[in-house]
Amino acid sequence: MMRALANINGKILKPEHAQVPFLTGGFLFGDGVYETGCSYQRTFLFLEDHIHRLRKSAGRLGIPVPWSDEFLKHQLQETAQAFGQDDIYFRMIITRGEVTHVGLDIHTDQPTLVILVQELSRELDQLRTRGYHLATSQVRRNPSQAQDPNIKSSNYLNSILALKDVRERGAMDAILLNGEGYVTEGTTFSVFSISPKGILRTPALSVGILDGITRRYILAVAQGICPSEEGAYSLEEFQNAQEVFIASSVRGICPVFQWDEHRYQTPGAITLRLQEAYRKKLDEEVLKSPSRF
Ligand SMILES: Cc1ncc(COP(=O)(O)O)c(C=O)c1O
Repeated sequence: MMRALANINGKILKPEHAQVPFLTGGFLFGDGVYETGCSYQRTFLFLEDHIHRLRKSAGRLGIPVPWSDEFLKHQLQETAQAFGQDDIYFRMIITRGEVTHVGLDIHTDQPTLVILVQELSRELDQLRTRGYHLATSQVRRNPSQAQDPNIKSSNYLNSILALKDVRERGAMDAILLNGEGYVTEGTTFSVFSISPKGILRTPALSVGILDGITRRYILAVAQGICPSEEGAYSLEEFQNAQEVFIASSVRGICPVFQWDEHRYQTPGAITLRLQEAYRKKLDEEVLKSPSRF
């Protein structure tokens, strides 16, 4: 079992002692928001971005966040220090908090703050080199007009249905198309391809995806390596590529060796250069960080 430590409303607890009441919107309806990230050399990567997005998601659901950024960072640091490892995974969750009855409600007096830290999966290094086998799910991405993918909510059923669909077909993870058939993103990651002309492509925010933090940094570090563009891409156009890779805060950049019947040589030359440039960006983050834990 993975080692972990939880912090519930400011109290640091071993997971076996960490409990939240079941009469919470989070448990009953997935009525909460969350962020996941990781540390590298005892520095939380892009923590400001994560806290900013957490507030934004909570704001969209009308869940108040009565804690300052400093308080949230401090709680995370204390939990990480108590955990005692350098490179860790973290999850910060805010739910609408305790309710008095099981009916749907949007009333909130006291949101619940949960922070979880745990070991980073040992599989990650292997995934960054060997890569992923993806399949396109039959399940479409929630449209922005229904459940906006930009709200990083605790309800991930859209992704879970997609994952279930492709796991049954032997793939490791899923890519979802939107209602019009354009490529959006993966269950928990952004997706990129390198076109036959060497252009880095990634779906535009307007196709209905999470505004990924890693995605933004990849587009920034790609400058000087290759041209890049964001757009609405059909599956065929996007898959017909030299290289494909996926990205998220915890994974970083991972190549894709197969997507449906398409096979890609891994690691691709441009993916490798982007991995290196991204790693340099992480080193810069460590150097400039005022608050290591
Ligand atoms: C649906 C989805 N897309 C993309 C991402 C990648 O986002 P980020 O780079 O901010 O971790 C995630 C991460 O959790 C996600 O859940």
